[in-house]
Amino acid sequence: MKKIAFLTSGGDSPGMNACIRAIVKSCLHDAIIPVAIKDGYKGMIENQFLEMKEQDVANIIQLGGTIIGTARSEEFKQADFRLRAINHLKANQIEGLIVIGGDGTFTGARLLSQEMHIPIIGIPGTIDNDVYGTDRTIGYDTAINTIVGAVDRIRDTAFSHHRVFFVEVMGRHSGHLALNAAIASGADSVLLPESHESLDLLVEQILQRNKLQKGNVILVAEGDEQGGSIELMNKLKPKLKSFDLRATVLGHIQRGGSPNAFDRILATRMGAFAVELLQENQTNLMIGSKGDELHSIPIQDGISLKKDPISAEQLKIVKKILSLN
Ligand code: F6P
Repeated sequence: MKKIAFLTSGGDSPGMNACIRAIVKSCLHDAIIPVAIKDGYKGMIENQFLEMKEQDVANIIQLGGTIIGTARSEEFKQADFRLRAINHLKANQIEGLIVIGGDGTFTGARLLSQEMHIPIIGIPGTIDNDVYGTDRTIGYDTAINTIVGAVDRIRDTAFSHHRVFFVEVMGRHSGHLALNAAIASGADSVLLPESHESLDLLVEQILQRNKLQKGNVILVAEGDEQGGSIELMNKLKPKLKSFDLRATVLGHIQRGGSPNAFDRILATRMGAFAVELLQENQTNLMIGSKGDELHSIPIQDGISLKKDPISAEQLKIVKKILSLN
C-alpha cells in the first residue's frame, strides 16, 4: 500500500489530533504516503486532499479539535456527490482510507465501500461514547472531565445560594456522558434518554433534599424526553414556586479543550492499529477497545448495533448514590 488517506467527520472530539499524528507517523515509518482529506466527506467531494509530512503533525498531540477540519456533509448522502468523491479518491491514487468519527461517519464509509473497492477502517471518535463495539470512543474521557470541572463550579454557587440547578450535558441519543459525569461529579439526580422519568418523583426528591439542607444539582442529557435543562426547569417551575431555579447548558465547551492522557493514548493506539490493519489488506472494520485491548469488528456492526447505555452494575450505583428519575 503506497497511499493512505484519512479524514475526521461529524462532531470533533479531543484526541482526534493525537490520532491523526499516529496515522501520519505510522505511515511515514512504513514508507506510505499519508494524505489528509480536509473537512471530512465534504473535502472528499471538493478534492481537498493534502499529503502530510512529519512536520505537519509536530506539536499537535495536545490540541483539541481537529487540525484537518470536520463537517457534517448532507451532500455525501447523495449518490452523485459520492461519485465525485470516488473519482477524487481514484485521481489521488488512494489505496486505503481511515475515517475517524461516530456512527454517521461509519455510515458514510459503508456507502462508499458499496460503490468502490477500497479498504476502509473506522476509528470511533465522539464525546458521546455511543458507538457499539468499543468501551471508549476518543474524546469521551476528556469530555467527562470537562463536565465534572464545570459541575464542581456550579455546585459552589448553587449551594451558596440554596438554588436548584439544572445542568444540560451533550449526548443527543445517549446518556453515557450524563450518567458517568453525574456519578463523578456527585450530582443529586440525573435524567437520561434511556430511562423514563417521573417528574413528580423528581419534585419530591428536590423537596426532600432541600429539607435536609442538601444540594440540588440535576444533570440532564440533551436528548432526554423531558427536553433540555431550560425546558425541564420551566416544566417544574409551577411545582417549585418557592425555589430559586437556574438552568445551564454546558454546550460545546464539552467538545473542546486539550485531550487528557487517556484520550491521547487511546487515539494514538487506534491510529497506529488502523494503519496496520490496512497493510494487512483488512477492510470494512471498525476499531474498538475492550478493557486495555484493541480489537476490530465489522464496521456494519458499529453502525447498526446499539451500545448498552447502562450496565446493571452502573444502575445499582446510580440508584444507591444518586437518584435516576
Ligand atoms: O455527536 C456529538 C455531539 O457532540 C452530540 O453530543 C451533540 O448533540 C452534537 O454533537 C452537536 O452537534 P453540532 O456541533 O453539530 O451542533
